[in-house]
Amino acid sequence: MLSIIAPALNEGKNLPELAERIFNSVPKDSELIIVDDNSQDNTAETAKKLSQKFNLTLLSRPKRLGLSSAVIDGFKLAKGNILAVIDADLQHPPEALSGMLARIETNCADFVVGSRLVAGGGSKDWPWYRKIISLVARIPAMPLTKVMDLTSGFFMLKKEVIEGVALNPIGFKICLEILCRGKYRRVEEYPIIFGERRQGKSKLGSKQTFEYLVQLMGLYLKKKA
Ligand code: GDD
Ligand code: MN
Repeated sequence: MLSIIAPALNEGKNLPELAERIFNSVPKDSELIIVDDNSQDNTAETAKKLSQKFNLTLLSRPKRLGLSSAVIDGFKLAKGNILAVIDADLQHPPEALSGMLARIETNCADFVVGSRLVAGGGSKDWPWYRKIISLVARIPAMPLTKVMDLTSGFFMLKKEVIEGVALNPIGFKICLEILCRGKYRRVEEYPIIFGERRQGKSKLGSKQTFEYLVQLMGLYLKKKA
């Protein structure tokens, strides 16, 4: 069974389309877990309404506790033996979930990363400077993994990859954390087009950038140990 975790902070406007498109592309017995951090819009109400139509669970946390920690708390609640993480703002194409799932179910991979950096992948309408910023963010982490899109927020894995693994809950880059600490044999990149955000705005700021540097330090220390 597949459990999909979608961290959502003020994404009320995006949730109906997100749920619709996810459940159109995954097996019927899948579950969607929305992790809301006391959003100030109608995220919680919308998720509750959608739970009448879809197999959707709302996890309500009292305040903004961060993206990685939202994903980790979602994992704890998940009933599936396969876990997926997708942004709630529709920048990740939900239709890719079925192809990613096929790679895991056929045992071709136990960890699949939605990737902008393999043939067929990309970022929609990204100007050159956004691409450069993204590259600069990736460079310091490159020695840690062979996966190119190491800052991706869209991925799927067998639950056993993270069972008993302590993951750093601080920051935005939970996929990198799992790439460095997870117990997997085969990781694969699956091409996706990262879309433009149509509703709401990004929650990535200078605090998250600083947290990324601290996270990197932790991962390098672990590598040396
Ligand atoms: N519950 C919760 N708590 N959700 C959060 C929080 C939080 O503290 N912070 C962000 N989110 C949710 C957002 O609502 C959205 O659904 C998702 O996490 C991603 O946040 P965005 O603010 O949309 O991030 P982004 O588009 O700038 O960055 C995304 O793409 C990057 C790749 O370019 C993320 O997936 C990054 O992890 C990724 O590196
Ligand atoms: Mn986004």
